[in-house]
Amino acid sequence: MAILGTGIQDGLLLKPITYPWAYDLYNQAVANTWFPNEIQLGEDLADFKKMTEEEKHAVTFLMSYFNPNELLVNKALAFGVYPYINAPECHLYLAKQMWEEANHCMSFEYVLETFPIDRDAAYESHVSVPSMAAKEEFEVNFIRRMTEETLDISTTEGKKDFVRNLVAYNVILEGIWFYSGFMVALSFRQRNLLRNFGSLMDWVIRDESLHLQFGINLILTVLEENEDLQDPDFADEIRQMILDAVEMEERYNRDLLPKGILGLNADYVNQYVRYLADRRLEELGFDPHYNVSNPAKWMATANDTLQLVNFFEATNTSYEVNAQATKR
Ligand SMILES: [Fe+2]
Ligand SMILES: [Fe+2]
Repeated sequence: MAILGTGIQDGLLLKPITYPWAYDLYNQAVANTWFPNEIQLGEDLADFKKMTEEEKHAVTFLMSYFNPNELLVNKALAFGVYPYINAPECHLYLAKQMWEEANHCMSFEYVLETFPIDRDAAYESHVSVPSMAAKEEFEVNFIRRMTEETLDISTTEGKKDFVRNLVAYNVILEGIWFYSGFMVALSFRQRNLLRNFGSLMDWVIRDESLHLQFGINLILTVLEENEDLQDPDFADEIRQMILDAVEMEERYNRDLLPKGILGLNADYVNQYVRYLADRRLEELGFDPHYNVSNPAKWMATANDTLQLVNFFEATNTSYEVNAQATKR
């Protein structure tokens, strides 16, 4: 059996498991289940009120970006990933991931409800702020190929579009752009601010680190199983997508932190973005491009780099240790 496929009556019987890494990630994801109302976000209100305008702008800007993009990831999974895979263990995982993205959306709604943030203004930014809109446009272009044209997964071009979409959503949006935002969100806790918000972000990040592991394993499996995709021009194209995404993120971060807040400015965040991009390049089998150090070493504890599940064996024990440490 190959991982790609569209037959409706294929993939209805779970055992034996063909891709144990996917089954293992599903079980880890279920074990990580949480709900936003377990966090007392109201306890952070006093912190929020004493924050500077620049700091409040950063929190609002993050919500403006995160909220619609959680739902955009689900569109990419529903239209661009789920229909083209047949392994039932992958379908189990994707169903859980889609619930998690919904749960993240509800978590960010909880932030918007709790803090005095103008929801309409926050919602508006993903269209009205050019650096934010550009990131969304980049993503939407990939999913459009799959919604407005029918992709034939048995052709090389169809398979390439499948991989491009996964790189755009999984590696770039979830694996670089979200992590850049997570670092800024958690930086408040480094200064003893918004600690409950920080706990909420910990749980979101714990989920996202599994999304990233699933996506990278899926990409590598598809490349491994389809020799027609193993061409150097296609590899260059994927690598270039990641480098372009770094530039987009750098522009966005200058709007996120126009003047900088205590201990954090756009250059610091952008060095972290370059560091992350190098890790993602390596996880896909490329050489690193930027060769910069991690300016936010404290983030390493929050799972920004992967102990990738070994390709054909599924246990990732280091992850479980981390999960225990952050458990409620
Ligand atoms: Fe998410
Ligand atoms: Fe995600």
